[in-house]
Amino acid sequence: MSSVILRCLGRQARHIKQSAGKRRYRVSSEGSVQPSSVSVKTVDLRSDTVTQPGPAMRRAMAEAEVGDDGYGEDPSVNKLQELAAHLFGMEASLFVPSGTMSNLISVMTHCRERGEEIIVGDQAHLHVYEQGGSAQCAGVHARSVRNNPDGTFDLDEVESKIQHYFPDSHYPRTRLICVENTHNITGGRVLPHSFLKELRALADRYGLAVHMDGARLMNAAVAMRVQPSEILQYADSVSMCLSKGLGAPVGSLLGGTKPFVEKAVRARNVLGGGMRQVGILAAAGIVAITDMVERLQDDHRNAKAFAQALLQTKEPLYMVDVEAVETNIVVFKMLNPHVSPDEFCWRMKGVTVEEAEVIGQGVRVLMQPHYDNSVRAVWHLNVSEEDTRLAIHKMAYVTEQFNQETSRL
Ligand SMILES: Cc1ncc(COP(=O)(O)O)c(C=O)c1O
Repeated sequence: MSSVILRCLGRQARHIKQSAGKRRYRVSSEGSVQPSSVSVKTVDLRSDTVTQPGPAMRRAMAEAEVGDDGYGEDPSVNKLQELAAHLFGMEASLFVPSGTMSNLISVMTHCRERGEEIIVGDQAHLHVYEQGGSAQCAGVHARSVRNNPDGTFDLDEVESKIQHYFPDSHYPRTRLICVENTHNITGGRVLPHSFLKELRALADRYGLAVHMDGARLMNAAVAMRVQPSEILQYADSVSMCLSKGLGAPVGSLLGGTKPFVEKAVRARNVLGGGMRQVGILAAAGIVAITDMVERLQDDHRNAKAFAQALLQTKEPLYMVDVEAVETNIVVFKMLNPHVSPDEFCWRMKGVTVEEAEVIGQGVRVLMQPHYDNSVRAVWHLNVSEEDTRLAIHKMAYVTEQFNQETSRL
């Protein structure tokens, strides 16, 4: 087999030179090799938001009973909200278009006056990736505390950041503490019961509410082998996404007390999130929370297998804490300073002829450069055990290429 020298000059240099035959294969912006004789399998690990609804979910959507949800008359929405409230062990829940809107509605509902304040982890989705919506749309100030690598934060720091001098007119009024479970940026970490329990006690001491961004709450429940309501006994409100590992095309559920949800309906409306015959989407949500939960453990197992494989390459190239892979997200770093996360992801995505010969087929693996110079890979319902095996082969192949290249530097 001819040797292939793969030289990548950043994102611009997108070609592969096959030295023996002097043939050149151009890699397109999608990373595919031409000519198209090579069969290419794509394994999409960018996020668990990329899932496609399966036949049962599509059937449920097609057959959904609907009504005008503005009047509370959509039977599918009503059923979903009841099911979710029961799942959460809370009085009521509200179907909303997205996790971002759900978090914002929660902040708006807990913090009723401008100049109120939330305390939130500095690596929380709500703080990092939601455009500062609390400030921008709700007039609520965010005070951040440093997230630990396991997604928790130091409760003494939280206590020190509560505004003790309110109502002195210089200070905002602390109203809400926000946690994220599982914690995305730190790699799908599950918040321990002990942390949540202590947090609850602290919040109660100061009369504060606790909101849980549980976009991946069900991953946490499956990993801990508990009912979600057991986790949520420590929270006043929760936001759970249907459109991540649970595989629905859209939607989140915001849970809380009845008065909380009544107020949340108003906040949803002012944000333009009121919907009409939305039972078509709620029907997908019902399938998501009834049929798609058990299978999350497959994602957790596949994610763990990939993390373990990262440490089994011939030359060590990756840094990952396998024990910290508790759910469907793997976050890892490069040990080799010559290999950037961008470059790694680009190589995983590109397909070479030689690779197809080595692995048996072309494998395009999509991952994303992530927070703090790391790479993130996320498992979900459209990534099977076999896909994971292919992703591992591809990673081993790319590692070998890197090692050959950097040994020549
Ligand atoms: C932890 C967390 N919270 C909230 C969201 C926002 O959800 P959405 O994309 O539905 O707005 C995400 C999305 O990735 C998330 O990971």
